[in-house]
Amino acid sequence: MGYKVAVVGATGNVGREMLDILAERGFPADEVVALASRRSQGTEVSFGDKTLKVKALEGYDFAGTDICLMSAGGNVSKDFSPKIAAQGCVVIDNSSAWRYDADVPLIVPEVNADAVSGFTKKNIIANPNCSTAQLVVALKPLHDAATIKRVVVSTYQSVSGAGKEGMDELFTQSRAVFVADEVEKKKFTKRIAFNVIPHIDVFMEDGSTKEEWKVMAETKKMLDPKIKVTCTAVRVPVFIGHSEAVNIEFEKEITAEEAREILREAPGCLVIDKREDGGYITPYESAGEDATYISRIREDQTVDNGLNIWVVSDNLRKGAALNAVQIAELLVNRGLLKQSRAA
Ligand SMILES: NC(=O)c1ccc[n+]([C@@H]2O[C@H](COP(=O)([O-])OP(=O)(O)OC[C@H]3O[C@@H](n4cnc5c(N)ncnc54)[C@H](OP(=O)(O)O)[C@@H]3O)[C@@H](O)[C@H]2O)c1
Repeated sequence: MGYKVAVVGATGNVGREMLDILAERGFPADEVVALASRRSQGTEVSFGDKTLKVKALEGYDFAGTDICLMSAGGNVSKDFSPKIAAQGCVVIDNSSAWRYDADVPLIVPEVNADAVSGFTKKNIIANPNCSTAQLVVALKPLHDAATIKRVVVSTYQSVSGAGKEGMDELFTQSRAVFVADEVEKKKFTKRIAFNVIPHIDVFMEDGSTKEEWKVMAETKKMLDPKIKVTCTAVRVPVFIGHSEAVNIEFEKEITAEEAREILREAPGCLVIDKREDGGYITPYESAGEDATYISRIREDQTVDNGLNIWVVSDNLRKGAALNAVQIAELLVNRGLLKQSRAA
């Protein structure tokens, strides 16, 4: 028997990718429904070699739908997810609305798959922030080997992390610069074309941004609450693919060579690390790929047991859509969906 799957936000960056990934991976779905706002009702989106007519989320009846992949922002999720979950449909949400709720598991399958069973409390599972997802995939095997004490991460985040409007703004501003038109700002707080912006999401009282706080809080929730994490999150003029420069301090000794070997074997990781021109991965090359790439693995001589690594991944895939589909696969493979339907 196949499942009935709904994709909410199907016209967006992440939603389109979800449909692609469900088709690519042959997810056992008998029926896939594409949902978005009323604005998109009747438009078409691709699903494998088929096209789906988009329906409106508002008024849609989720009875008989097994999984809802939700990717329409925090406010829509806060409003709709509990109602959808109450109809017996498991919601896998991409927004930050539920990530810090103690009754909602926050899951990256390579990191904390066993925690998924906690979903029955609310019938909701949260997908982490895009920067956290790729970070914890790289940190988990190293933490298991040498116990991480502290992480200092600087992110270089692509504009697709700010949705389709973010991508449009980079495109429009870049064109405006070339044809000497006025550069207009809408989505970002400063010009993003040929620039970088050290500000993602709102400012917090301590001077950090919400994006930076998310990386800290989510890493602790999924990996280990004892790990100290500090982050500087920066938007860069790249369309797809987030990069991270990560400095890690361990309790036990670990060499760069040992870390390289551990990461080579680790699920979801792909080490590309030649100490020569071009022997590393850039975000452009990660677009459309599933792996979390790790390059520039080297010892940090300024602290005991320190390493530096460079982590790159497609933020729309591992950072969002792929991770959500992997969670859905986890539910299917562990037989957890029928359990929720019976409950
Ligand atoms: N982009 C990333 O790297 C990333 C990573 C992790 C998590 N996320 C999260 O994923 C979510 C979507 O991100 P995105 O990048 O795909 O954004 P996006 O490209 O702007 O797409 C937003 C989607 O939400 C739909 N939507 C908006 N309001 C709605 C409503 N009232 N009812 C139903 N659907 C509604 C839109 O439909 P219309 O086309 O009809 O407006 C569109 O399909 C956000 O919560 C974001 O934080 C994104």
